[in-house]
Amino acid sequence: GDGLVDVELRVNERVERLRLDPRVTLLDTVRDRLGLTGTKKGCDRGQCGACTVHVDGRRVLACLTLAGSVTGKRVTTIEGLARGSALHPVQQAFLDHDGFQCGFCTSGQIMSAVAVLREGQARSPEQIREVMSGNICRCGAYGPIVDAIRAVGAAD
Ligand code: FES
Ligand code: FES
Repeated sequence: GDGLVDVELRVNERVERLRLDPRVTLLDTVRDRLGLTGTKKGCDRGQCGACTVHVDGRRVLACLTLAGSVTGKRVTTIEGLARGSALHPVQQAFLDHDGFQCGFCTSGQIMSAVAVLREGQARSPEQIREVMSGNICRCGAYGPIVDAIRAVGAAD
């Protein structure tokens, strides 16, 4: 055969049936096959966090995840976070607190922040910095990013 495998992915509540190379990453699959380019490719080797998505509600690095390994699981990308026309509260907080400059790291920052807030891991500025340390911002917007996450945590 051609070495490809049939994979059924559930991305942002849509079922997608794809024929894939079993070595292809979730990152390349959402960007190149599904056109979901909000998830960014920074380092492509697990060191920047730009590719952060959720699998069954937990954050994962899509560049280190094989697409075939998430068959049957719930994948959420930044495009699946807003509900209708309403931004997710974390998206709104990043706008309100100027939590980005060039924006390259932002979808990964937001996906990480949503997960750590949900897990109750964002109680203090120190803890936020610690649990968000895998999300690198080359623009150095860390202060506003922490402020945005704190604001959502405080509102919960
Ligand atoms: Fe995945 Fe950098 S692109 S961690
Ligand atoms: Fe530019 Fe973070 S806003 S890399």
